[in-house]
Amino acid sequence: MKQTVMVAGGAGYIGSHMVQQLLDEDYDVVVADNLSTGHQKAINPAARFYEGDTRDKQFLQQVFQKEDITAVIHMDAFSIVPESVKDPLKYFDNNVIGMIALLEAMRDQDIKYLIFSSTAAAFGNPQKTPIPDDAPKDPINPYGDSKLMMEKIMKWVDQAYGIKYVALRYFNAAGAMADGSMGEDHTPETHLIPIVLKTAIGQQATLQIYGDDYNTPDGTNVRDYVHILDLAKAHILALKYLIAGNPSDIFNLGSSTGFSVKEIVEAARKVTGKEIPAKIAPRRDGDPDILVADSSRARKILGWQPQYDNIHDIVQTAWTWKQKHPNGYND
Ligand code: UFG
Repeated sequence: MKQTVMVAGGAGYIGSHMVQQLLDEDYDVVVADNLSTGHQKAINPAARFYEGDTRDKQFLQQVFQKEDITAVIHMDAFSIVPESVKDPLKYFDNNVIGMIALLEAMRDQDIKYLIFSSTAAAFGNPQKTPIPDDAPKDPINPYGDSKLMMEKIMKWVDQAYGIKYVALRYFNAAGAMADGSMGEDHTPETHLIPIVLKTAIGQQATLQIYGDDYNTPDGTNVRDYVHILDLAKAHILALKYLIAGNPSDIFNLGSSTGFSVKEIVEAARKVTGKEIPAKIAPRRDGDPDILVADSSRARKILGWQPQYDNIHDIVQTAWTWKQKHPNGYND
C-alpha cells in the first residue's frame, strides 16, 4: 500500500515541487497550506488539499483524523531574511508556534516521522567554509534563529515522545521544473535569481546588487545554489532513512560551490543572452558574507546525489519557467 505523506506548505515554491516529486515516486500526498504565500494552482490536483493554518491545532487534528498519514514534511515557515529582521515576531509566531502546534497534533495522532526544512541561516557568519553539519550555530537574523529554535524543539520532542525527525538545512533553493511547468512565484519577490530574470525579461529596469563591500573575492555575497528538485529528492531519502529505523539527524544540503551575486548575474547574462543592467545598492539587513555547504554527510548517509551540478543549468530551468510564465501562476 502507498504511504501517505503530508506536505505542510505544499502550495509554496519548495512545497509544490516536493508534492510533485512525491507523486512521481508513487506516494499518496496530502497538502496543508493556508495560501498566505503559496498558490493553489501550484499544487498537483492528484494531491488532496486542505486549506488551513498549521498554527491551528484543531485544523491539523481534523486532517490527521481523516487521513492515514505516515510522515509530515514541514515546509510552511516564513523564510525571507530581511523581512524577519524588520518583523521578528511575525517569524517567531508563524515558525515556532506553528512547529509546536504541528508536533502536538502529531504526538496526539501518533505520527512518528517529520522531515523539516531548515536553513543555512542557522549558522550566521560561519567560521569555516564550506560549512560542515556540526559547525557552530549563531544566526544573525530572526529567521535563522526561528529555525534553530524549531530544530531544538524537535530534539526534545523526539526524546520525550519518539517523533523521529530529519532537519535539512538548505542553502539557496533555486531553479524550476525543466519543462517550465512549475517554478518560483513570490509576491513580493526577494530572491536573487528570479529578480535577475525579471530584469532580463524587462519587468524591472535595473538589478540592485545589495553591497559590494563584503569580505568576499569580488565584494558581493557568496551563496550556494541548489536545485529545487535535488532538494525534494533529499527529503524522500530522509523519509526512507527514518522509516528504516535510523535515528534523528540534521544534514546540510548544498552544491558545495559558492557563487557571488556578480557571478550569478554573469551566468544569467549567458543563459538569457540579455544585458541585465545592474548597479550597486546599499547592503540589505541580515546578509552573511558567505554561505557554502559541506554536504558530504547527506551524500554519504542519505545517499544524496544532486543531479544539477552547475549554475548554468539551474538558471536555465528558472529562465524556461520565467519565459513560459512571466507573471508566475497568474499566466
Ligand atoms: N540580492 C541582491 N539583489 C537582489 C536580491 C538579492 O543583491 O535584488 C543578494 C542578497 O543580498 C544576497 C544574495 O543576493 O546576498 C542572495 O539573496 P536571496 O534573497 O536570493 O537569498 P538569501 O541568501 O537571502 O536567503 C536564501 C533563503 C533563506 C535561506 C538562505 C540560506 O531565502 O531562506 O538562502 O542561504 F536561509
